[in-house]
Amino acid sequence: MGLNRAPMERRGIRERMKVLSVASECVPFVKTGGLADVAGALPGALARLGVEVRVLMPGYPAMKAALPEDAEPRALARLPGGRASVISAQAAGVDVMVLDSPRLFDRPGNPYLGPDGRDWSDNHLRYGAFCRAAARIATNGVGGWRPDVVHLHDWQAGLTAAYLKLGRRPAPPSLFTIHNIALQGLFPPAATTPLGLPRGGFHPGGFEYFGQVGFLKAGLVYADRISTVSPTYARELTRPEFGMGLEGVVASRRAEVHGILNGIDLEVWNPETDPQIAARFSARSPARKAGNRAALARRFKLRDDGTGPLFCVVSRLTRQKGLDLLLEVLPRLLARGASLALLGSGDADLESEYQAAAADNPGRIGVVIGWDEPLSHLMQAGSDAILVPSRFEPCGLTQLHGLRYGTLPVVARTGGLADTVIDANEAALRAGAATGFQFSPVSAAALADAVDRACDAFADGKLWSAMVRRAMRHPVGWGASAEAYARLYSELVEPAT
Ligand code: ADP
Ligand code: GLC
Repeated sequence: MGLNRAPMERRGIRERMKVLSVASECVPFVKTGGLADVAGALPGALARLGVEVRVLMPGYPAMKAALPEDAEPRALARLPGGRASVISAQAAGVDVMVLDSPRLFDRPGNPYLGPDGRDWSDNHLRYGAFCRAAARIATNGVGGWRPDVVHLHDWQAGLTAAYLKLGRRPAPPSLFTIHNIALQGLFPPAATTPLGLPRGGFHPGGFEYFGQVGFLKAGLVYADRISTVSPTYARELTRPEFGMGLEGVVASRRAEVHGILNGIDLEVWNPETDPQIAARFSARSPARKAGNRAALARRFKLRDDGTGPLFCVVSRLTRQKGLDLLLEVLPRLLARGASLALLGSGDADLESEYQAAAADNPGRIGVVIGWDEPLSHLMQAGSDAILVPSRFEPCGLTQLHGLRYGTLPVVARTGGLADTVIDANEAALRAGAATGFQFSPVSAAALADAVDRACDAFADGKLWSAMVRRAMRHPVGWGASAEAYARLYSELVEPAT
C-alpha cells in the first residue's frame, strides 16, 4: 500500500501488524455510546499506519444485516450457547469478524438490555462466549488469519485476557482498554462452570471480585498492557473516587497503564461537508453557523432572539453525566438570557424532569428524549456552547464534536474533558489559547459560575468569535492517538529487551 518503511520504523511502529479488536459495539452497526465510535473509527486510522485491524463483534441482527450475502461462516466448536460460527467480511468499510450464535445474539434493540429495560439475564453467557470465541480466534486463527495482538475493549471483552493467559496454548499478547470502569460485568461464581473458566483464576489476585466473577477485572489482571482513553483518567483511576473499587488493581499495574486520548472521525464530523446539518461552514466562515442555529431553534421550538447563547446537551442521561446539576442551574441560565436544547435518554427521573423543565419554559428550553444521530449533528452545528458537567468522564466525545463545530465546550475539569478543552482563564486568554470553559469541583455552584463566564464571553462578540475559530482548529482527529496505539502494539509484539 505504498507505505514508506523507514519512517514507520523510526516512529516505533512495526510493519504489517495484525490486530484483533474485540468490541461489543461498533459504528455504524450498533451503538449505545462512545465505545462504538472508537471501535469503528480507530481501525481506519490504524490502517493509514499500515496496521491491519479486524473487529470481532457479536452477531446482533443489525450487525448480521450489514454483512454481504456471500460471506462464508466458519464453525466454531464447543462454545457456551450452542451452535456458533464466525463470519469474516468487509462491511461499511470495516473489516469485521462476526460471532454468529443465534441463541445468544439474535435479539433486536439495545445489545445489553431486554425489552423490560433490564440487563439480559444471560449476559454472562453471551459475553463469556464472545470472549471465549475471541481467545479461540486469537490462538488458532481463522481461515489462516491469526492476529499478532489482541485489543480488548471494556468488560464485555475482558474475560478474553483470562482465557488467553490461563489457556494451555501459546497466545498472542493483549491490550485491555478501559472506556468506563463503572461498568464491570460482575456475575455470580456459578458462571465459571458454563464458561469453562479455570477455577484456578477464581481468587482476589485473579478474576474474582468480592465473591463474584469480574469480567473487567479479568482484563485488568490478565492483559499484558492496560490503557484508558485519556491521560487524566489514567491517573484518576488509581484513586478511590474514580476507581470504583478497582483502584488498587489499577495502581498495582501502574507502570503498564497508558492514557491515550480518543479522537473523532473527521469525515463523519466535518462541518464543511456534513449532509445532516442545515448550513455548511468552516473555521474561515463560522458566521454561517447562524443558519444551523435557526434550524435548531425551529426544531426545538425555541424563541431565537439571538441575545444570549444557545447551549446544548447531547448525552446519556445518567448520574455519570452530572445532568442533575444542570437542572439546578437552569434558573441562572435562563436569567442570563440563554436557552437550552437537550437531546438524551436514560434515567426515567431525569427524562421526566427535563421534560417538565421544557414544559415550564416554552421557547427557552427544548428537550428531545430519544436517540437521534442526525439531530446530534445539527445540535453541534447550531448551538453556541455544549454543556458536559460529568462527575467523571474517561474521555468524552461530544466536547470534541463541539470543538470541531465551533460549539464551545463548558466542561467539568475531569478525565478527558480536562485534557481536551483549554479553559478561558486569564492566562489562556492572554496567550490566545482558550477554547472553552472548565469548572471544578463538579457542583451546581461551580457549573453556574462556568455558565456565567460563558455568557459573559458570548456578550463580547470579538472574543467569542476568536474562541470559536480557535476551537475549530484544535486537533481532534485520531492521528497522534492512532500512532500511540500502534507503538503500544509494536512493543507488545517485540518486547523491549
Ligand atoms: P459515553 O460513551 O459515556 O456515552 P461519549 O461522549 O464518549 O460518552 O460518547 C457518546 C456518543 O453518543 C457521542 O457520539 C454522542 O454524540 C452520542 N450520543 C449520546 N446521546 C445521544 C443521543 N441521544 N442521540 C444520538 N447520539 C447520542
Ligand atoms: C465511555 C466513556 C466516555 C468515552 C467512551 C469512549 O463510554 O464514558 O468518556 O469517551 O467510553 O472511549
